[in-house]
Amino acid sequence: MERFIIKGGKPLKGTIKVKGAKNAALKLLAACLLTDQPWIISNVPQIEDILHLIELLKGIGVEVKRNKDTYTLRAKKIKTTVLDANIARKLKASILLAGLLLVRQGEVVFPQSGGCVIGQRPRDIFIDGFKAFGVKVRQTKQGYHLSAKKLKGAKFVFPIVSVTATEAMILMAVLAQGKTVLKNAACEPEIVCLTQFLNQSGAKIKGAGTPLIEIEGVKRLIGGQCRVIPDRLEAGSFVILGLMTNSPIKVTGLDSEHLDVFWSFLKRVGANLKIAKNSALIKPGSKLKAVNLKTHEYPGFPTDLQAPFTVLMTQAQGLSLIHETIFDGRLFYTDMLNQMGAQVIMCDPHRVMIQGPSKLYGRRLISPDIRAGVALVIAALAAQGESVIENIYQIDRGYERIENRLSKIGADIRRIN
Ligand code: EPU
Repeated sequence: MERFIIKGGKPLKGTIKVKGAKNAALKLLAACLLTDQPWIISNVPQIEDILHLIELLKGIGVEVKRNKDTYTLRAKKIKTTVLDANIARKLKASILLAGLLLVRQGEVVFPQSGGCVIGQRPRDIFIDGFKAFGVKVRQTKQGYHLSAKKLKGAKFVFPIVSVTATEAMILMAVLAQGKTVLKNAACEPEIVCLTQFLNQSGAKIKGAGTPLIEIEGVKRLIGGQCRVIPDRLEAGSFVILGLMTNSPIKVTGLDSEHLDVFWSFLKRVGANLKIAKNSALIKPGSKLKAVNLKTHEYPGFPTDLQAPFTVLMTQAQGLSLIHETIFDGRLFYTDMLNQMGAQVIMCDPHRVMIQGPSKLYGRRLISPDIRAGVALVIAALAAQGESVIENIYQIDRGYERIENRLSKIGADIRRIN
């Protein structure tokens, strides 16, 4: 098992560039199943989740070529409607692939997934959504069996806002017969990126980026080319790293409009930053003060930046309250921050209070999930002494070779077996 050895407390310097967004790339790549024409996606991060998706796509017959960060996919002939259970279980986004196979082949078998470290990840909204399009859903030993002779456009109201369920229903509707209306849809920039590309390829989608999306089904899509948008979550993590280590680093290649609420929180905290359209420069010497934060669906404060922000609050003057509203298991990593010297009290699984500032010390840590994992890397780089981070597979799921990129700005971080 690989782990990171981090010697903290060193100031960082230089420029770090943000890669393409995992949560956009996964969906853009999977959407190749909607056509038999070549589908070219660039700026794809080389991360574990993408590699698993590519394996699943190859497994069902998609031709895949890679040139650096550009993938050319062609779903000319599909050879199976059964998703490899072992890989599909590792990847939450595989349910999207299931929906797409259904559109393409009229049926699909995919495994049931259990809970995961950030809490239960139910699929009830997907199942209700599929049914609204006329899909027959059977639960079998292997998982779910979905089938449909013809998909019919539907009116579907999401009971709660769900990112992947919104994307799954959009992908269902694009080639369905007639009109689809989706209400209470998620508004994430990754959804807008997906729909812009689909529209370029012949789809008729209106309203993406708002809670009301309308789709007129078309007969076919043509292939095309698309560049994945910058990863706003990676960008936010690197900015917090600069603040935590009090380092003049510049984060480039981001889209600052995707982080409006994040910036507004950093302003309230007292962070000294220069934000431009595609970059953010951290100016050392910020006097950080505690604020209360509630995660929220986009455009609110992203749940995926909650862990780095909580780490930042360990260095802010005063008492802060962090309320994680989206997932029910996304605060347990705070126990490890306490082992490092932070003062975090868990009020309930959704809320922690942090008394700051606290000096942090290097410890042996375990990465529970992608985002808490990177938050621990940030804490370790700001801490005094050496930390060992285990289970870094989780970090590799979302961040491309993070140790190489952080080393270039002066971080003392090594990957060892
Ligand atoms: N939910 C249900 N039923 C469903 C689907 C979702 O109750 O059928 C609930 C979830 O349990 C959660 C809430 O709805 O409480 C919102 O979850 P959502 O469906 O929006 O999450 P997701 O689509 O599974 C995506 C990202 C996550 C990110 C969330 C929230 C991808 C592949 N994943 O997950 O990203 O945290 O949206 O923004 O896009 C990550 O990148 O580390 C990550 C976990």
